[in-house]
Amino acid sequence: MNKLEITYKCPSNIALVKYWGKKAEGIQLPANASISFTLTDLCATTTIQATKTNEILTEAAFIFELDGKLKPSFEPKIASFLRRIWNDYSVLHTHRLYIKSSNNFPHGAGIASSAAGFGALGLCLAHLQQEFSGNAFTDFNAEASRIARLGSGSACRSLYGGLAIWGEIQEILETSDEHATAFTQYHHEFNRWKDCVLLVDEGEKSVSSTQGHAQLDNNMYAQARYQAARLSMQKLLKAMQGNNIPQFINTVESEALQLHAMMMAGPMPYILFKPNTVAIIEKIWEFRSSSLLPLCFTLDAGANVHLLYDGAHEKEILNFVENQLLPYCSKNKYLCSALGGTPTQIK
Ligand code: DP6
Repeated sequence: MNKLEITYKCPSNIALVKYWGKKAEGIQLPANASISFTLTDLCATTTIQATKTNEILTEAAFIFELDGKLKPSFEPKIASFLRRIWNDYSVLHTHRLYIKSSNNFPHGAGIASSAAGFGALGLCLAHLQQEFSGNAFTDFNAEASRIARLGSGSACRSLYGGLAIWGEIQEILETSDEHATAFTQYHHEFNRWKDCVLLVDEGEKSVSSTQGHAQLDNNMYAQARYQAARLSMQKLLKAMQGNNIPQFINTVESEALQLHAMMMAGPMPYILFKPNTVAIIEKIWEFRSSSLLPLCFTLDAGANVHLLYDGAHEKEILNFVENQLLPYCSKNKYLCSALGGTPTQIK
């Protein structure tokens, strides 16, 4: 086959229990299990055109474009990802790749785009490899998730609609460190929940997540954190099965704060949240205790606040956002998304 082409659209995800720290052995294996919701409306769309070459390639040959522009700054991470899958992906040995990606949310908005981007890339490459070799993977999603993980750990959870768990836990047999697994045993009312991302800072992060994970290796609180994450998983899964909202809120917020506490307590301490991040959290706490509405916050490794809420109360909650939180957002900006969307192949 001289030319192959494939396009996938893949959502980003937001972790409820955080992946923070990698195992010392293996490649890109998590130190603790994590769980996330896909962000239905914040997606990457990636097309790969693979053109047969007669040259003998010793490493993957690719061009990468984001929103129609070459992005040399993204090349090292993609090159390292392609090196990790080189042995298993014979399509790379005989084809040059033209990778075109775009996000449906503003680039540089401070939203992690790597989960959606590597999710879409994993799907495209697994698909191309199947088509090229003529051999179907036994579990296509698990394979796409496995390779997405090798690009960026959190990306492996974007491959399943709804909730996905990455990392082995005793309570659920199918879970694995190698790829994510769908978690479907939760109360249906969580399907109404949404995420409103309050954009506090649109700039580049001073310390990348990959650098942040590495600091766990010399963090004296690391083992305690992994133990706490195991307990968070147990509490969260129970809360989501039994629709126990106070326990859900408590666990999600504690996880967000622990993530940032680890950054502050590491060998090279740093802070990624900003004064407005704290101001928003305080407003959310105030509003929740006066309104008693089901909402809580979580944070990524950055300054933006994700306001998670039950969509049944959308009107009151978005009123609260507009009236009380917008002044703390950069250029009054926020992005809303439903939770639980699934990746799709675009014909
Ligand atoms: C804070 O997946 O971006 O978002 O595997 O090094 O690419 P790499 O890191 P990445 O880390 C994300 C960490 C997090 C928490 C989470 O999504 O679980």
